[in-house]
Amino acid sequence: MAYTQPADYQQRPILIIGAGTLGRRIALMMAAGGGEVRIFDLSEEQRGKAKDFIEEQLPKLLEKFKTGSKGTITLSDDLAKAAANAWLVFEAIPEKLDLKKKIFSDLDRLAPADAILASNSSSFPSSQFIDHVSDAGKARVVNTHFYMPPTQNAVEVMSCGVTDPAVISTLIKTLPSLGGLVPFEVHKESVGFIFNRVWAAIKRECLNVVATGVSTPQDIDKIFLVNTGAPFGPFREMDQVGLDVILAIEEHYAELTPSLPAGPRELLKKYIAAGKLGVKSGKGFYEDYPDAAKKH
Ligand SMILES: NC(=O)c1ccc[n+]([C@@H]2O[C@H](COP(=O)([O-])OP(=O)(O)OC[C@H]3O[C@@H](n4cnc5c(N)ncnc54)[C@H](O)[C@@H]3O)[C@@H](O)[C@H]2O)c1
Repeated sequence: MAYTQPADYQQRPILIIGAGTLGRRIALMMAAGGGEVRIFDLSEEQRGKAKDFIEEQLPKLLEKFKTGSKGTITLSDDLAKAAANAWLVFEAIPEKLDLKKKIFSDLDRLAPADAILASNSSSFPSSQFIDHVSDAGKARVVNTHFYMPPTQNAVEVMSCGVTDPAVISTLIKTLPSLGGLVPFEVHKESVGFIFNRVWAAIKRECLNVVATGVSTPQDIDKIFLVNTGAPFGPFREMDQVGLDVILAIEEHYAELTPSLPAGPRELLKKYIAAGKLGVKSGKGFYEDYPDAAKKH
């Protein structure tokens, strides 16, 4: 049976799978749309932290984004119940291919047949994890790649190769009404998204400059700010994302392009081995995040 888009989506919930750094931020943006937002995560602690984060951030987001309204957040550890009647599902679980394959296969079975199934994977095109999705279901799978909302609000939307074009146009049309997101269509399937590919090259070279003893994270951020006028530098940004996440992404690029330098990955591994994962562990390239780590 051919895939048919959800017609009555305004009345139906949005489901977020994974309540970590990105999942809770996607949930926040969806909650500014005023509808029901469900969060599914295996960890009770992560579900609770996501809810606290959204309750703290949503009033500020609504104040800034004048046309939104406060949605409701429900937490779940039961995927079948969480997926029931959802019209849109965002997956934000760890960047591991086997996990992504499993969750998309489960969602294909458990979500309504018309629900849009969107991944937030940074480095795997969604065509790589739809092997166990039914043929009809593949047309509703899409990559929607978020950055760091509510401050970095670009979202890239990319086909899985067989995504129904109507899914992409629905998302491009709907996302601006959800917390002021700014969607961009990726015109061709790509390993790495538009901004990520550019930013990965910048981060890799910054890490290489430190790995080869030429400068320090702090000086590189400072020179970046002085010369570009950006509000923060690459090392602050990497701390925010999580150095384990940065390493996983870089390892994936290196698998595809073995000529990439190893120094950036070695440097990240040293920080990770020392328990310095960035904001989420209280320390990373910078060591001034003790309060943020408690909330993370
Ligand atoms: N961190 C970023 O800045 C960023 C940016 C863009 C995209 N992404 C992508 O978003 C995804 C999530 O990254 P993150 O940084 O939020 O990770 P994270 O480690 O902060 O969070 C992952 C969450 O998933 C939960 N989880 C693990 N397995 C699960 C399962 N099977 N079912 C339900 N929940 C499960 C964990 O408990 C955790 O709360 C990755 O694919 C990553 O590449 C991350």
